[in-house]
Amino acid sequence: MTEPMVTLIFLLFLATGSLAQTANDVSWAKRVDTGSQVITTMQFYFHDTLSGSNPSAIKVAQPQSSANSLGGFGNLMMVDDPLTEGPDKNSKLIGHARGMYGSAAQNELGLIMVLNYGFTDGVYKDSSFSLLSLNPALQAVREMTIVGGTGLFRLARGYALAQTYWIDPSTGDAIVGYNVTIATYI
Ligand SMILES: *[C@@H]1O[C@H](CO)[C@@H](O)[C@H](O)[C@H]1NC(C)=O
Repeated sequence: MTEPMVTLIFLLFLATGSLAQTANDVSWAKRVDTGSQVITTMQFYFHDTLSGSNPSAIKVAQPQSSANSLGGFGNLMMVDDPLTEGPDKNSKLIGHARGMYGSAAQNELGLIMVLNYGFTDGVYKDSSFSLLSLNPALQAVREMTIVGGTGLFRLARGYALAQTYWIDPSTGDAIVGYNVTIATYI
């Protein structure tokens, strides 16, 4: 091919938009490579209270017929669970986990967690992250996915390792320790 022809083909290629991702050639969007990543680690406790007159987790839906499924397949809970610095419920309140979890596995205990962890303490006040993950609740340590966030957690990606600190098997009330690792960009 002659050189002018190669140039022409290249220009046609550009015109089709095939290279738009690498060229800042639109007026309504731009890409900047900042290269700087921040890793945040956290440790806190999640208080899930089903019993008593003021439960923080309430059942909002259940299947019409609850066949003999191990984990109560189909039950859906709405929660507003306090997050504290230590395992004691009276230790410093640092935020709330708000959202839902539901029993999503037929032959085992598998909870689908759709929760916003919003913080109220220090520089993390008004920052939150969103967790969307299956929780294999009978495993000693459950790894769950963090998919995004707001404030200091904008563009978050990460994971939580959850381990039950205390549980009352008769009511289901539980205190769960969380170790969280989040990557964000500045
Ligand atoms: C969470 O972190 C603490 C302190 O580093 C550690 O002792 C504990 O084993 C961790 N738990 C999990 C489930 O990773």
